[in-house]
Amino acid sequence: MPAWGALFLLWAATEATKDCPAPCTCQALETMGLWVDCRGRGLTALPALPPHTRHLLLANNSLRSVPPGAFDHLVQLQTLDVTQNPWHCDCSLTYLHLWLEDHTPEALLDVRCASPSFATLHPLGHLTGYELGNCGWQLQTPWAYPWVWWDVALVAVIVIGLALLAAILCTAREPLLLGSFIRPSGQA
Ligand SMILES: *[C@@H]1O[C@H](CO)[C@@H](O)[C@H](O)[C@H]1NC(C)=O
Repeated sequence: MPAWGALFLLWAATEATKDCPAPCTCQALETMGLWVDCRGRGLTALPALPPHTRHLLLANNSLRSVPPGAFDHLVQLQTLDVTQNPWHCDCSLTYLHLWLEDHTPEALLDVRCASPSFATLHPLGHLTGYELGNCGWQLQTPWAYPWVWWDVALVAVIVIGLALLAAILCTAREPLLLGSFIRPSGQA
């Protein structure tokens, strides 16, 4: 490999790893993206993760929850190892649950809950959305949206319009009535 090629790879690797979070070690992958290893660092919160993270190892830490949206900026993230953490499986873990379900559903069975008591030692994948709870979010009933009323009003106007039209057409079949209907005023 020519020297400039080696230099370029070195530069690329340095660029990629320079925003490696302090407690972790990072390695640039040949296929672009980063291998970010944060295993066994006693983490209680997620570190600031570089946007090029492709494989993220968070096993064997003290993580209890993941903030909603925590991995949304990691568009290249493919694998996520979050085993051996004291996860508190309540509604605040719904984001992690959904992320794993979307990307690596089989991993949901390796992630075990430490608390609350009903979930202890259960795999996260065995808990339903109902058990995790909804953190007080409420799905609004469709009638709560004002624009639904506009649709309803529009449909009502159309229905009334069609009914009137039908009535006029039916009436029009009767010549006598038709005459009285369309006779211009003043021609009686
Ligand atoms: C987990 O991490 C601790 C340090 O926080 C380390 O001493 C221990 O060996 C690790 N255990 C495993 C199974 O990797």
